[in-house]
Amino acid sequence: MNYGMQFGPLWPSARVSLLSEPKYGALVNNFSWGGDVVRDLQGLRAADFIYAAQNGPAGAEGPAPLSPNIQCYTFPKGDICRFPPARPDTVGILGYYLMDAASLLPVLALNVQPGQLVLDLCAAPGGKTLALLQTGCCRHLTAKDISVSRIKRLHGILHSYLPKAARDNVSVSVEDGSNWEQVERDVFDRVLVDVPCTTDRHSVMEHDNNLFTRVRKKERQQLPMLQMQLLVAGILAAKPGGEVVYSTCTLSQLQNEYIVESAIKMAETQFSIDVHVEDLSCFRRLFQDTFSFYAECRVGELVLPHLTANFGPTYFCKLRRAQH
Ligand SMILES: C[S@@+](CC[C@H](N)C(=O)[O-])C[C@H]1O[C@@H](n2cnc3c(N)ncnc32)[C@H](O)[C@@H]1O
Repeated sequence: MNYGMQFGPLWPSARVSLLSEPKYGALVNNFSWGGDVVRDLQGLRAADFIYAAQNGPAGAEGPAPLSPNIQCYTFPKGDICRFPPARPDTVGILGYYLMDAASLLPVLALNVQPGQLVLDLCAAPGGKTLALLQTGCCRHLTAKDISVSRIKRLHGILHSYLPKAARDNVSVSVEDGSNWEQVERDVFDRVLVDVPCTTDRHSVMEHDNNLFTRVRKKERQQLPMLQMQLLVAGILAAKPGGEVVYSTCTLSQLQNEYIVESAIKMAETQFSIDVHVEDLSCFRRLFQDTFSFYAECRVGELVLPHLTANFGPTYFCKLRRAQH
């Protein structure tokens, strides 16, 4: 009922897509020595959607501020082929990581540059952490999450995809990222705040761990407050001039634009920190051949699931902390 009102005639198509098989992208692992990975993916008739966007007509309008070195192969719009599982190279490192390709957009939007200190505040199980590391730009990556079991999965991913030398560059800890007292302030060049949300695709399909069950009602009601606290913590952790990306995998305006707008007000009133929303509309133009975007967000960008491009939902919004 809620999404019907929010999206009007777009909702039936998004709804049926959420109820259908999702599409995956293959994030190429730049740390793998399996030289055939890219050739194998190309052999499947998949293409690197990031390279294609930057070298296509939309990319000709000038370089977009994207995190570099990330390669992700997807099948064309309308093609529902699947990727086979990734194979290990001679030292056991896997060649690619299968994920919702739209989940890479927040990482690309973070625009990580060489030598930067990066914080991933809600990192587990680690798909975006792995993507951040593919940039080869992080002087150090700090990954935090409140869940012990999910942090174990993050360690598993780091072990399967990174050689030891690259893992040394990452510190992982179990922590409540929403605690404003504990957060290291004014430290990071880039902060990713990929918050817990109603995970719409999971919620419509799976019974286990479903946030809409009666016993989780209170947790669900408290979710927007937690999301706002996490985003404010991310803003506090960023250096003056630093960039923060907020992301979710829900269509809910209450968990997306509303949280961004509230956190900006909170940072200003409680901490006298000015934060500006950065325009990411170039993403809509650049990646229109791969994703179906919703053009009406007040702030930020939203990938709407569509049967011909069944990625998302992914919402992402980039904020910049003022210098003073
Ligand atoms: C959407 S998931 C993150 C997915 C992850 N970024 C990835 O790409 O694999 C949200 C995460 O937030 C974590 N979380 C929930 N509350 C938290 C808190 N107070 N502090 C830190 N992490 C929290 C959850 O355990 C969950 O792993």
